[in-house]
Amino acid sequence: MTAYETIIVDTEGRVGVITLNRPKALNALNTQLMNEVVGAAKAFDADPGIGAIVLTGSEKAFAAGADIKEMSSKTYSDVVSEAFFGAWDDLSRVRTPIIAAVTGYALGGGCELAMLADTIIAGENARFGQPEINLGVIPGIGGSQRLTRAVGKAKAMDLVLTGRQMKADEAERAGLVSRVVPTEEALTVAKEAAATIASKSLISVYLAKEAVNRAFDTTLTEGVRAERSLFYSLFATEDQTEGMAAFVDKREPEFKHR
Ligand code: CAA
Repeated sequence: MTAYETIIVDTEGRVGVITLNRPKALNALNTQLMNEVVGAAKAFDADPGIGAIVLTGSEKAFAAGADIKEMSSKTYSDVVSEAFFGAWDDLSRVRTPIIAAVTGYALGGGCELAMLADTIIAGENARFGQPEINLGVIPGIGGSQRLTRAVGKAKAMDLVLTGRQMKADEAERAGLVSRVVPTEEALTVAKEAAATIASKSLISVYLAKEAVNRAFDTTLTEGVRAERSLFYSLFATEDQTEGMAAFVDKREPEFKHR
């Protein structure tokens, strides 16, 4: 098992859990944490025994953003030559669904990390925002793009330009989060949702995620065409035969993930 210093990695059945663990810095995302989160997510993705991933922080902070102390002395040539933040892009290539269980602050890179997950379950105390403007910069891990797609231009502009924080109920109304639950239940609810996903056929889960994601980077016509093709392809799987036979036989399916 890989030794991690800034995260805690655990499994519960077919669910992998990644907990951000830099409490003194409110889980600020430094380079080490980025590499560890991405490494752990990729390791879960490569493990056929894992069907869903939960990403979480602490009650006070999911993550309070990129690590400002690490970032503050960097120059233009530093960030360009390091491809600073570039490793986060690997998270969007993980095929296993990722659920973010967000309690407390999800600011800047923290909000962006939550949006890199496939869906967000928020505790009532969650606070979302893109306050980079207060530091003389702008979002750098996809926030200006993913937030705008999630909540629309008006609210994205409002949040990115003012740097204000949005509470969980506003985030739910805006479509950023799928559910708001009592703070102390957020992780449990996220794990339950992950266990439900992990009980499905992994192949149909991969393709369902791929199909929904197509909606964000293609036209409606192309997206529907891609969905149809993915749908047809599932008829080549044993799990399609099993899933439909189980329905007809009035029993639970036994998916083999092939
Ligand atoms: N980077 C580094 N350290 C951070 C941090 C961050 N983003 N956020 C908090 N910390 C540290 C604080 O410096 C403090 O450390 P010390 O005890 O050593 O001083 C510790 O965490 C606790 O923080 P506070 O004392 O500030 O806690 P608070 O409860 O008073 O305030 C907060 C909480 C409102 C979240 C406040 O910490 C804050 O505003 N944090 C910064 C939020 C922010 O600007 N995030 C965006 C970062 S830029 C970015 O993310 C770029 C991008 O696009 C990727």
